[in-house]
Formats: sequence, C-alpha cells, structure tokens
Amino acid sequence: MSTRPSVLLTRRIPSAIHERLSVGVDVDLYEGPSAMPADELLARIRDKDGLISVLTDKVTKDVLAAAERLKVVSNIAVGYENIDVAAAKARQVVVTNTPDVLTEATAELTWALLLSAARRVTEGDRLIRRGAWKGWALDFMLGTELRGKQLGIVGRGRIGRAVAAKAPAFGMRAVFAKHDMSFDELLVSSDVISIHTPMTPDTRHMIDRRALARMKRTAILVNTARGPIVDEEALAWALRERLIAAAALDVYEREPVVHEALIGLENVVLAPHLGSATRETRSAMIDLAVNNVLAVLAGRPALTPL
Ligand code: DGY
Repeated sequence: MSTRPSVLLTRRIPSAIHERLSVGVDVDLYEGPSAMPADELLARIRDKDGLISVLTDKVTKDVLAAAERLKVVSNIAVGYENIDVAAAKARQVVVTNTPDVLTEATAELTWALLLSAARRVTEGDRLIRRGAWKGWALDFMLGTELRGKQLGIVGRGRIGRAVAAKAPAFGMRAVFAKHDMSFDELLVSSDVISIHTPMTPDTRHMIDRRALARMKRTAILVNTARGPIVDEEALAWALRERLIAAAALDVYEREPVVHEALIGLENVVLAPHLGSATRETRSAMIDLAVNNVLAVLAGRPALTPL
C-alpha cells in the first residue's frame, strides 16, 4: 500500500498539471461526464488526504465527517458556498479557493454582458437567425448609450473594483453600494446595476421585487456573482412589466436550470456561467488549486487559504 498522500480530484484537469500533481500524490480522478454524484463523493473521500473540488461538489458536514484523514479541500473557484467551511475548520481541514487569478476574466465578461444588454446584441442575433431582419431603419432596435451614465456596483471586492476600473473607458461613473451611497440610493439612482457580492444568507434574494421596483425603468441589471442573489421569478416579472429595461445574467438560482419565465423574454441576456471561462484563467485557477493541495500535504502553509 502506498504511503504517499492521496487526493480525490472531481474533474479532469489539463494533463501537464495532472502530471505535476501526480509526482507528489496518488490521484483518484472522477472521470464521469458531468458533476460527481454526492454518494460517490461520500464514498471516495473516505481514505483521502486532500480533495480538489469544483462548485458543483457539495462538501457538506457529512462528507467531511466521512473523511477522517482529510487535511485540505482546495476549491477551483473563488466562491466557496459549496463547502461547509465552519465544519471544515472545526475538523482542522484547510479550505482554499482561487482568488485574484479570475478577477479580470470575470470583469471582462461583466462588461460583455452589460454591453450586450445595453445594445441588444443577442436579441439582434436571434432576430437575424430567424430570418426576421427587414433591413436598416432609423428607429430599429434602439438601445441605451453608456456614456454619462452611472454604474452602481454592489460588492467592493476584487471583481467589483476591476469592473469599476473599466467604467471610464465607456464614460461611465462607477459608484459602490455602502461606500459611496446606501444600497437603496444606488438602486434608485443607477443606470446599470452590477452584482459582485458573495453568496451568503444575507445576500440571498437581495434583488427581489421590492429592489427591482425601486430601480429606474431604464435600468439594466447585470449578475455575474451568484444566482440566488437575484430572485429570478421577481426579475422575470420586472422585465415583463418593463419595470426595468433589461438584464444580463451569467449565474442562476438552480444551475443548470434557468427559470422558464426568463427564457421567453427578449430583454434578458443569458450566459451559461462563463465568468472565469477563458483558457488563461481556467489554467491559472487549476494551477493554484493544485499548488494549494501540494503545499498543505507537504506541511507548508496554503497559498490562498480562507
Ligand atoms: C468562481 O470562481 O466562483 C466562479 O463562479 C467559477 O467560475
């Protein structure tokens, strides 16, 4: 029997990084086509010293209790609401995430969605594909210009600040909730509202019917943070009733399910959780997650512990 530490890896990773991981530890790779089923995670974690997880793996109290040897859970994501961090800490299991490396990619996607919603790009794409374009017209598919408008940002962490840093390029003025003004003031005065706050019990449905009703009728809502921060049913109502002009979402309450009321609406851009999905960023995230596991299992401090 091997005396090397053993690590459960719940998704395939690039071969060069996998090889680097395998030099120091025995790797048990889950090779299924999609998310690892919960019962399989529970069974395969038992004899492991480390876990490299993604946000679809629910690392619950039960999973942690089943893994008596576990020393580290390394999440390939900056978010970590899939992990019971308090239970891990109580068992002296180090939990790590992948901050910084995905900041720019997520900020770029936020702007891509914001621009798509403001200039109706995906709506126009659908119109062309169904053969409905009749040609150029003075009043055809008019969108909203960003110059001179206020970008209200909820969440002043790395990604929120990176989104704000790009605002001057579009002539927008960025303001932060709680910092420059109250959340309520931000709701009523912003032309675009972009969500960059972590998912916690306090932020769940922070954007609800009441919040949406406070926003300008011309406002655009962008969410690249976590789905449950926005009440999707309320958002569909606000978009249908034209209480706000448009929305652009990268994240959903029950991924990969998207609320059916949103699917039929033209004034919402829907992306399939692509915030960090660039080749450069995904490889940096995986590299960092592997380095975190190797460090802890070698008795060194983690690079990015929670
Ligand atoms: C994260 O890192 O939390 C992202 O949502 C994963 O893409």
